[in-house]
Amino acid sequence: MTPEITTPDQYESRADEIHRDGLEAFSGAADADELEQARIEYLGDKRGRILVLQKALGALPPEARREAGRRFNEVKSALVSAHSERQTALRSTAATRPALDLTMPARTQWAGGKHPVTLVIDEIVGIFRELGFTVALGPESESEWYNFGALNFPADHPAMDLHDTFYLGDGALLRTHTSPVQVRTLQRHAPPIRILAPGNVFRRDPFDASHAPAFAQLEGLAVDEGISFVDLKSTLTLFARRFFGATTRTRFRPSFFPFTEPSAEMDVECQLCKGGGCSACKGTGWMEIMGSGMVHPSVLEAAGIDSERYTGWAFGMGPGRIAMQRYGLPDIRLLYDSDVRFLSQVSE
Ligand code: DAH
Repeated sequence: MTPEITTPDQYESRADEIHRDGLEAFSGAADADELEQARIEYLGDKRGRILVLQKALGALPPEARREAGRRFNEVKSALVSAHSERQTALRSTAATRPALDLTMPARTQWAGGKHPVTLVIDEIVGIFRELGFTVALGPESESEWYNFGALNFPADHPAMDLHDTFYLGDGALLRTHTSPVQVRTLQRHAPPIRILAPGNVFRRDPFDASHAPAFAQLEGLAVDEGISFVDLKSTLTLFARRFFGATTRTRFRPSFFPFTEPSAEMDVECQLCKGGGCSACKGTGWMEIMGSGMVHPSVLEAAGIDSERYTGWAFGMGPGRIAMQRYGLPDIRLLYDSDVRFLSQVSE
């Protein structure tokens, strides 16, 4: 219970108390809510403590009312200005805080994507698919016969040397190329055959800027009646123009593989210097992108296909090297690293 105010002294001391407490409450308000609580407590229309002083005026002796009224006005205006001062101060601190920008895009994290070599394989498969080719797969652990013998390698061929091939024992080895998939397909399907065989191959190669002991290859094979070198050349030229650009120049150079006759290497103009000559193409302006040739009759016969009736052409390329050209990579090892700073730039 607050004591009644009937004398000027009581009025004076209560006015002092409300004045002091009110100023303290306003200046100590930490935020807008606390300030509003203080305003209601001291200046509220219904129960504000200032009303006590207003009401008490009538109970004072008439000669004391004038002074008390002046004091009431003084306390009230002091509290009102303390309130608005604090309000201004709190608003300006709020304004200096960084604004919350709800339109700002969230920070996203790269969620992974297809490897650059996979992107290249997908694109090549897409082009050949339109020409009627389908995808065929074979095992990475192969027999010597599929990897070499059926492909017309003579038994003493240097590629079969222990220094060049990973042997697993019992005549099994890690395939050194995707060409054995040709044989497996020819054994299982009757012509017409048009397949692409992507997959990993393994060689006892050093791991340096241009070699890796395990890498991807992409094999192609078309076998039917009446297939000639014209089919090989026109299809591969079409492919190069689709993949590298309509005006890309290509050339075929004679070569040798045991499983093709005749054989040819296919070059496209260097994508980095556009044929002008740079360090990537060793100044020639050309990049070798694949080996190719007419399927050797012995390969068809080894797989049980009548080589008098059917002919075919084949190719083998390294999608990793093509990815290097496409993305301008200086070192093939980037492709075998899981460094997301590199992968996230190229992957989709
Ligand atoms: N198998 C060969 C290699 O790994 C690439 C190759 C060349 C495949 C000519 C072919 C071909 O199908 O016709 O080097």
